[in-house]
Amino acid sequence: MNDVQSICFPIPSQQSELYFPLYIPLCLIMALNASVLSNKTLRDYRNTIHQHNDKFIKNMPKVEMHVHIEGTMTPELRWELAQRRGESVLNINTQQPCETLSELKSTYELLNDLDAGGVDGGMQRFFKLYYGGFSVLQDEEDFYRLAMNYFRKAASMNIRYCEPFFDPQGHTRRGVPFKTMMDGFKRAQSEAVRDLGVHCQWMMCMLRDMSPESAMDHYLQALPYRDMIVGIGLDSLEVDRPPLLFEDVFLRARKDGFKITCHCDVGDKDTLRNIGQVVDQLGGSGADRIDHGLHAADDSFLLQRVKGKDLGMTICPWGYLCYSGEAQIIDRVRTLFNAGIRIAIGSDDPSYMEDIWLNNSLYLLRVLGNFTDAEFVQLQRNAVDICWASDDIKAAILKELEDF
Ligand code: ADE
Ligand code: ZN
Repeated sequence: MNDVQSICFPIPSQQSELYFPLYIPLCLIMALNASVLSNKTLRDYRNTIHQHNDKFIKNMPKVEMHVHIEGTMTPELRWELAQRRGESVLNINTQQPCETLSELKSTYELLNDLDAGGVDGGMQRFFKLYYGGFSVLQDEEDFYRLAMNYFRKAASMNIRYCEPFFDPQGHTRRGVPFKTMMDGFKRAQSEAVRDLGVHCQWMMCMLRDMSPESAMDHYLQALPYRDMIVGIGLDSLEVDRPPLLFEDVFLRARKDGFKITCHCDVGDKDTLRNIGQVVDQLGGSGADRIDHGLHAADDSFLLQRVKGKDLGMTICPWGYLCYSGEAQIIDRVRTLFNAGIRIAIGSDDPSYMEDIWLNNSLYLLRVLGNFTDAEFVQLQRNAVDICWASDDIKAAILKELEDF
């Protein structure tokens, strides 16, 4: 049952105190009306979705396709991995070693700091924190523990199959061999199927703020791990790094039989152009899926192209709310869903986004988007349709979903 009725959210401010002279053009009024959520409102949302007890969402069998394995690095795990080799963890605010786990935890508190940075500043801060977390990943055991930590969490959320992203360049540039990382992931992947019933295939992301040559070099290093890696994506800071800059790698990946996808982050200044490249051009004829790309909802031509090609989209609403602060985020998710586009919800970087995991993000759609039980089942059908699991795994999850 939908227990949304018992939740009381503050209504976002609509700038009611502003006075608009009659001659202000309509588009400007619309822009001003793009209301921005206060941090207090975001914190209220966060508390509500963090504490939810929605049995339907919890028990529903699920697939997760948009989660960065490095974005699941909890402060507890980071502390444990550092302690394991007698190292300290740097506090990104003071540049001094953290004295305690709670000091480290405080550096993960995004909403306390967002006022200072705005969207761009917020993303810069996010990447500083996110890449900072890589430093404790050094040997095979570290990568194994990171992946197992996520798989255990996934099992507790009834996730049956997932396609986590990983960022190999963020590790090799620190001197970690490609093989070390893959060996750790492989051991965790086998254990997750055997002990937890969680199936997984990996999505290798190229860092778009590094060079296309580095991307190609890492693509070639990944070829011996074809049995683990199902697709190639592109992530990291998007500013002035369009998808087609990496076209050589995507062309090659498609020719070799990998699936291809690409991040189009919400709020990037060139997002409509970038979504267009991903839809129609990447890999020669357009990608197999789009990561984010929420602003397609603002452009009827793009929306029709996505729909016409029946492209799946992975959508992570909580991250957009945190980093763009725009109140209209959930409206856009609704627009895509109601247009019949096969969107699937993800958690992106749950540890760096206020500890909000897949079930919490689904609950956000319950409380802010009035998604019903039937619509949650449809979202999971979408996820099964657009994931790249084997036919057997897809059929088993669909059956379980229908029985549920
Ligand atoms: N890498 C990890 N998280 C990311 C995000 N939210 N956007 C782009 N690149 C990322
Ligand atoms: Zn992402």
